[in-house]
Amino acid sequence: MKILVLGAGAREHAIVKALLRTGTAKDDLTVAPGNAGISADAHCVPSLNPNDPLEVAKFALEHGTELVIIGPEAPLVAGVSDALRSEGIAVFGPSQAAAQLEGSKSFAKEVMAAAGVPTGMARECKTIDEVADAMDEFGAPYVIKADGLAAGKGVIVTNDRDAALAHAEKFMDIGILVEEYLAGQEVSLFFLADGKTVVPLSPAQDFKRAYDNDEGPNTGGMGAYSPLPWLPEGFVEEVQRDVAQPTVDEMVKLGTPFVGLLYCGLILTERGIRVIEFNARFGDPETQVVLRRLTSSLSNLLYKAATGGLNGATNPDFTKDVAITVVLASEGYPDTSAPNRPIKHLAEAESNPHVEICHAATAFATDPETGKEHIVATGGRVLSVVAMNQTFAHARHHAYEAIAKIHLEGSHYRKDIAAKVAN
Ligand code: AMP
Ligand code: GLY
Repeated sequence: MKILVLGAGAREHAIVKALLRTGTAKDDLTVAPGNAGISADAHCVPSLNPNDPLEVAKFALEHGTELVIIGPEAPLVAGVSDALRSEGIAVFGPSQAAAQLEGSKSFAKEVMAAAGVPTGMARECKTIDEVADAMDEFGAPYVIKADGLAAGKGVIVTNDRDAALAHAEKFMDIGILVEEYLAGQEVSLFFLADGKTVVPLSPAQDFKRAYDNDEGPNTGGMGAYSPLPWLPEGFVEEVQRDVAQPTVDEMVKLGTPFVGLLYCGLILTERGIRVIEFNARFGDPETQVVLRRLTSSLSNLLYKAATGGLNGATNPDFTKDVAITVVLASEGYPDTSAPNRPIKHLAEAESNPHVEICHAATAFATDPETGKEHIVATGGRVLSVVAMNQTFAHARHHAYEAIAKIHLEGSHYRKDIAAKVAN
């Protein structure tokens, strides 16, 4: 099956590695635009703009593409799936309308209310006075969310009233949601959806804060592990029954069936499971650990989802081995950006067979000293170092040994990924 993957991050690199591991031939795989690391595993087309619906559809038609897998949210919001579907090309990724489940937090809340899906209480606010009233109603800690895509920077959770109000001011233009604070463990659970039927993947936990012990600002995600040994029995079935299936059913009722990946961001509170967000795409970095453990054919699963064929499908298989990923971030991330700097000793880090490195923001450049080509970091989250093994203690050992070998001036990473489950 000829497959085109859209995107340029570690999530897309993980998708590529999982496709190759579960039966897809390298010759059948194209990535646009890709990055330096992905180009070692698959043919990349850096010139193709993944956010341009017509350009992508034209490329897919010309190259006989049979399945397009959309990684990030931007092409979804731009309507790339719609353009591909109207040309009769199978696409794993929701329509522009269905992607609103991620793009608009107030839309997601309306869907959840109509479908009876458990979530935190929230108030939509148009003015700063309304924000202040809602904050008084719910009390501290304050949860303030921008009601649109804000590149992972739209949410603040803080006890500091002034910081909460300042955040609301900043995003007032795109609308603000004030939400009750929910205490508990966070779980990311992905479902493949074909419009009607949902199929669960394996749960993961993301580490959102920049520094150890969950300190520092929120980021796109600094690490993850899967599975979650502390989850209660029947958790996945409960989320499927009470969250994913009713949400997908409600999307049918609204005339915008959801085809693609339904990312359920959940908090396990004392009063039960609550949804804190939906995303319309694979999570990053959770995908790096979830797909690392997948043993079923990823292309078959995504093709079935893309073509309405999940009904009656058995749930995907995962190895019992556990996986962790640690993200290497550039100096200053997430607050400031660093200049492009060389990354050294990658091959040494990846020489361990238990370790895989997914590239997030890398490119080739000419080393001014030697005149030779080398790899440089081009963004905030640079690499996801993934390790799989029988126990979390062993997986952590391999991941941290590998990441310690990599040299990128000024870079940082969290030391406590999966530490609580490694004993
Ligand atoms: P979101 O973009 O909605 O996932 O929010 C980013 C992060 O903020 C989440 O991963 C949580 O850590 C935190 N968060 C969001 N909503 C809440 C809430 N209602 N209560 C507590 N923490 C939250
Ligand atoms: N890891 C969080 C996200 O992908 O949104």
